[in-house]
Amino acid sequence: MKSAHDTHVTRQFGPRARAYVDSAVHSQGADLARIAEIARQIQPARAVDLGCGGGHVTYAMAPHAGETIACDLSDDMLAAVSEAAASRGLDTVGTTRCAAEKLPFDDACFDMLGCRYSAHHWQDIDAGLREGRRILKTGAPAIFVDVVASASPLLDTHLQCVELLRDTSHVRDWSEAEWRAKLASAGFSIQQVSTWRVRMDFPVWIARMATPEPLANAIRLVQDSAPEEVRRHFEIEPDGSFMLDMALFETVAG
Ligand SMILES: C[S@@+](CC[C@H](N)C(=O)[O-])C[C@H]1O[C@@H](n2cnc3c(N)ncnc32)[C@H](O)[C@@H]1O
Repeated sequence: MKSAHDTHVTRQFGPRARAYVDSAVHSQGADLARIAEIARQIQPARAVDLGCGGGHVTYAMAPHAGETIACDLSDDMLAAVSEAAASRGLDTVGTTRCAAEKLPFDDACFDMLGCRYSAHHWQDIDAGLREGRRILKTGAPAIFVDVVASASPLLDTHLQCVELLRDTSHVRDWSEAEWRAKLASAGFSIQQVSTWRVRMDFPVWIARMATPEPLANAIRLVQDSAPEEVRRHFEIEPDGSFMLDMALFETVAG
C-alpha cells in the first residue's frame, strides 16, 4: 500500500506524464549521453531506471541493454514510458510500479542502474539507495543525477522553499556532501562527480508541474524579497527564471 506521501507524489506527477516525456530539460543533456555511453561500454544484461518519470534514462540505456526496467510510483508515467518506448522501437523495455524504497526485485539481479531527478522526491533516500545497492551485482555501475543544494544554509533554504512551493511533494534537494555520504553508506563507491547548471525558464517550469497560481505568485514574492547573495547565486531574472545546480554521481556497487 502506498504511503500518503507516495500518493501525493503520484497525484502530482500522474497528470503530468506527457509533459515529462516531452520536456526539453528532461529529454536532453550531457548526463543522458554519459549514461548511454556507460551502457554502451558495459552492455548490461539487465538495467533498471529508478523513478523513471518520462523515461529518458530508460531510452538512453535500452539500446545497449538486454532488458531495461523502468520503475516509478506513477502508473500514468509508466504507461507514457511504455508508449514512448514502443514508438522508438525499444521493445526490450518493461515497467514496474514500485517505490524506490521497497523494490520488488531479487538481490543482485541488475547489471546497471540509472536514477535521474527523482531522489529529491523520496521520503527515505537512505532506504532507496540501500535498495538500489541490493538489487545490483557487485561492480555494477550506478549513475545518480539530481538537483543539488548549496552548502550555504541561506542558499539551501531558498532552494527548498521555491521547490516546495512549485511542487508540494518536494522532499529535499541534497547537497553534494550529503549525496557523497549517503552513497558511501549505502555501499556505492564514487568514481567521478560532475556538476553543471541548467536554466529553469519560469513559465515552463511552473506549467510542467501545473503549479497553482497562488503558489507560483508566492515563488515570485520569495524571489523578489531574496537578498542579493541569493539573487546572484541563482541568477534570478526579471520573470523568475533562474539557474539550478545539478550533479551526476558516477558510482559502482561496492
Ligand atoms: C522529475 S521525474 C523523473 C525524471 C526522469 N527520471 C528523467 O530522467 O527525465 C520524478 C519521478 O520520480 C517518481 N518518484 C517520486 N518518488 C518516488 C519513489 N519514492 N519511488 C519511485 N519513483 C518515485 C515520480 O513519480 C516521478 O515520475
